[in-house]
Amino acid sequence: MAATAITISPEDVQAGRTNERIPEPCVVVIFGASGDLTKRKLLPALFHLEQAGLLPEQFRIVGVARRDLGASFAEDMKSGILEFGGVKSEASKLGEFIAKVSYHAMNFDDDAGYSSLKSLLEKYDQEDGTKGNRLFYLAVAPEYFSDIIHRLGAHGMAQPEHGTTRVIIEKPFGHDLESARELNDDVNKVFDENQIFRIDHYLGKETVQNILVFRFANGIFEPIWNRNYVDHVQITAAESIGIEGRGPFYEKAGALRDVVQNHMMELLSFVCMEPPVSFDADAVRYEKVKVWRAIKPVDCASTVRGQYAAGEVDGKQVKGYREEDRVNPKSNTETFAAMKLEIENWRWAGVPFYLRAGKRLRKRATEITIQFNQPPMLLFDRTQRGTCTDIQPNLITMRIQPDEGISLRFGAKVPSPDMTVCPVNMDFNYAAAFGTSSANGYERLLLDAMLGDATLFAHRDGVEATWSLFTPVLESWAESAPKDFPNYPSGSWGPEQADELMRRDGRHWQKL
Ligand code: BG6
Repeated sequence: MAATAITISPEDVQAGRTNERIPEPCVVVIFGASGDLTKRKLLPALFHLEQAGLLPEQFRIVGVARRDLGASFAEDMKSGILEFGGVKSEASKLGEFIAKVSYHAMNFDDDAGYSSLKSLLEKYDQEDGTKGNRLFYLAVAPEYFSDIIHRLGAHGMAQPEHGTTRVIIEKPFGHDLESARELNDDVNKVFDENQIFRIDHYLGKETVQNILVFRFANGIFEPIWNRNYVDHVQITAAESIGIEGRGPFYEKAGALRDVVQNHMMELLSFVCMEPPVSFDADAVRYEKVKVWRAIKPVDCASTVRGQYAAGEVDGKQVKGYREEDRVNPKSNTETFAAMKLEIENWRWAGVPFYLRAGKRLRKRATEITIQFNQPPMLLFDRTQRGTCTDIQPNLITMRIQPDEGISLRFGAKVPSPDMTVCPVNMDFNYAAAFGTSSANGYERLLLDAMLGDATLFAHRDGVEATWSLFTPVLESWAESAPKDFPNYPSGSWGPEQADELMRRDGRHWQKL
């Protein structure tokens, strides 16, 4: 299926051929600036926005971290933009952009550091015209969130007299229901809810936003998007990478906290939510929370956890999780989680939702598949002239990444004198239709936060709803240590029990 599309170029922006708005002048202050996220994702994303003409002219970036990096910080960010942002060294604006990046070394619990940060930001207001507008980005380990927030408040940087202040908080937002509530309370003591942007980078992905467009901008899918037509839904978030040197973080997290409670729940909510009354933050977030609250308490017998052993991925031998750097050699942390969920509402009652996510699986692929019911009778199976052994149910598959697209599987007649039916795919491919893009999801979210649009960010109620769902599972898993870890080789599709979870319902995971 071919389609052409008009993408927004810097020229379009200059000529006003886009309805994107340019944010007010501001300073983006990144706490945890010496970490990987800043270099690999945030700075490349900000530079892409600059290239697209979507940043205000009066703009500065201040990196904050404990190490004394001084002038080398800007250079390091430049190399990050080149390496991870798909940017060429001669890209126009790169030099100008880097000149706007500075660094402020301080300990996160050092009051003098907050005072000097405040003075620095005021200096930019005077010299660069940033008008007192601030976007604080907390890209730090979660144990620092509350303290940084508290000190920003104590130093008068949360509710200043002039300008607008917003704060982006990275995941994980809490590690269970209680800690998420405490963190929400701490943050809400200092910032109003409309200043808070809890980020989940999945919501910045074009293909994730497109789930809503697919459902609500087309008339033909919504009438069949319910229990009367859908047999089941399956969502896979498979990664071929391991924990990438993040042993201490991952040991405390595990797959359920790292990706299921957040990224997968966001995907599920977009697939399942009712049409919101409008596409504004409150309306969209309200519908999402309704989905999460309607999920039946998770039955632990319908969950599977796994941990990778050594194996081969992409032709390379890789070590098992327990052999990874700074991981307990007897660790019981799960690197794979699968489960069956049920949503008790009028649209979805009785439709099972199967989820699986894991590291060191055979390949990287995030996909959502909606499997539809078979026709009431398989007519062609009975014909004298047919050899119809292969009548398969219709599937809509949304490929979130890396091969972004949507396909519809249906049965077609094989050209022959017989009535032979064969499954075929009608395919939409993003790259073919719109061209490729180096966007990493953070562009859209950073822009939205600068504009004050929280539609694609988590709300306090949503975070607490998903933690209420998974905290009992985490507790139950913690009580009974897995006896079979490691239980899947790297390069496989996860533990056998995940296949069994489907098989016992007479279903199977789609091949990716
Ligand atoms: C992050 C997790 O939130 O998402 C990582 O902490 C994971 O463990 C990553 O690898 C996956 O993101 P993406 O965009 O590569 O699917």
